[in-house]
This record gives sequence, structure tokens and C-alpha cells, in this order.
Amino acid sequence: MQILREASGLGVALEKLRAGGKKLALVPTMGALHAGHIALIEAARLHADHVAATIFVNPLQFGANEDLGSYPRQEATDITMLRAAGCDLLWLPSAAEVYPEGFATSLSVSGVSERWDGAARPGHFDGVATVVAKLLLTVRPDVALFGEKDFQQLAVIRRMVADLGLGIEIVGVPTVRDHDGLALSSRNAYLSTEERQIALALPLGLQAARQEILEGKPVATTLFGAEEALLIAGFNRVDYFALVDAATLEPLDKPAGTMRLIVAAVIGKTRLIDNLAVEMGSSARA
Ligand code: PAJ
Repeated sequence: MQILREASGLGVALEKLRAGGKKLALVPTMGALHAGHIALIEAARLHADHVAATIFVNPLQFGANEDLGSYPRQEATDITMLRAAGCDLLWLPSAAEVYPEGFATSLSVSGVSERWDGAARPGHFDGVATVVAKLLLTVRPDVALFGEKDFQQLAVIRRMVADLGLGIEIVGVPTVRDHDGLALSSRNAYLSTEERQIALALPLGLQAARQEILEGKPVATTLFGAEEALLIAGFNRVDYFALVDAATLEPLDKPAGTMRLIVAAVIGKTRLIDNLAVEMGSSARA
């Protein structure tokens, strides 16, 4: 695996990977890698001949009171994991490289980025859209892969890539979970043993809510009960627990079309997000 810190060598390295019409995939990350990130690399290998990854803790997507300073960093372990997963190229740009002196452009994706995490974390999705556009335009992959774990992020990126006509295929990869169902996240490292136990109420709450919706319980009643259950389990705050349209992220008050249950809640100082597909047809058959 070739490791590059400066964009100067990137052009030649990418040309080599693309030689002979080979297809290139990109997996953008902020490092502190876990099996969820590695699933993206493995999926990327199925979609392309060569895989590039980036590690960049993007300051633009962190709010003033968020964890930019303390975000976990483990570069040596990340490199070992990427190498083992068969990644061909790793680009670790500096902030000065991604945002050179005088950088003044910001991308804002209205609609799909406004509710939920967009409302709870003002400016977050502008930061995500701006950095992802910059990374995609610098690397110019044929395909880029993102996790369904960050479901709204995936929808924002799909919208942005379609609107700008970037011509890059965006692939969503299913959430990788721990043995007990907790979605893997770099931020799980912040949880104490007790908080880690409380956190399980998130995937369990999603499953229970899905079951209730499939059984025909009113959506509003289901969501209200699901929020209450999280608070009773020990979460300090629930930012949202919603049933949404999977493409637009607009809330649904009754089941319709392709749906997703999405949730964000805080334990102690840690904010966790998770989501689950709700498929009326397939579950009715099951
Ligand atoms: P990061 O949180 O490092 O995540 C990088 C990618 O891994 C994202 O596409 C995310 O959805 C995916 N991912 C994280 N946990 C996952 C899990 N348990 N299962 C499957 N995929 C998972 O998301 C970001 O970084 C940044 O916002 C980024 C897109 C890199 C822009 O800065």
C-alpha cells in the first residue's frame, strides 16, 4: 500500500492505479478505523480494481463544542488495518492541503441535510459536503463508498454528487455491528463500561420500533414510546427518533415507500446515532 501525505505525488500514483482502464474506488474516512471501515474497503474491492482510502479529521464538520481536539487518532494501527484489507493507496492530507490559505468555498445541500443531525449539529453537513466534494474531485474515483451507519450523511452525499453531476457512483454499505448489536463507531471508544451497556438500548429500541410499525401500531405512539425507553435505559437526551423517507429524510407519520428508522441520543458526553430499514413487504412475508 502506497502512503502519501502530500497531494503532489497523488496524480502520478492515481495514474498508475488507473493504467490500462482499471476502475478506482475511494473510501473517505476520519481514521480510528474499525471493522465498519474495513467493510467499506472490502466492498470497494468488489466494485473496483484498485482501492484508495483517505484519513482526514475534517475540522469543517465539527461544531465549536464538539470533539475535534479529542477525536481518536491511531495512525499506525489504521495503516496496518488498511494494508491487511488490501487497500492500494492511502492519502493522509493535512488541513493546510485540503483547505489552503484563503479557502473560501462551502457546499450546502438544502432539504435533505436540514433536519435531524443537520438541526442538532449546525454546519455539520456543509462541512461534510465540502470535504467530500474536495476529496472526490482530487481523487476522481469511479466509485466511492460510504456507510449506511451515517444514513443522513449518505443521503446528503448522494444528493450532492447527483446535483453537481460528478459522475461518480455512490455505494452505501450496510452497518457493521458488534456481537451484541451496537453499531461500530469510532466514538464508542468514549463510552465507559456502564455507558456501553446502556448504549445497547439504541439497536434494541430500533428493532422494537420496527416490529411495532410492522404490526400496525401508530407511528407517533411507537416513536414516543421508543424515546421514553431510551431515557429510562439511561440516555441523557434523545435528539430524535423518527421514521423517515430513505431518500429525502422527510418524516413519515404513517408507513410509505422506502423507509428508515433513525435515532440520535446522548449518554454522558457521547452522542450516538443508529438507523434501521423498515420493509413492510419483506417482513410481512418473513
Ligand atoms: P468516519 O466516521 O471515519 O466514517 C468513514 C466511513 O465509514 C463513513 O462512510 C461511515 O458511514 C462508515 N462507517 C462508520 N461506521 C460504520 C459501521 N459501523 N458500519 C459501516 N460503515 C461505517 O463519516 C465520516 O468519517 C466523515 O464524515 C467523512 C465521510 C470521511 C467526511 O469527513
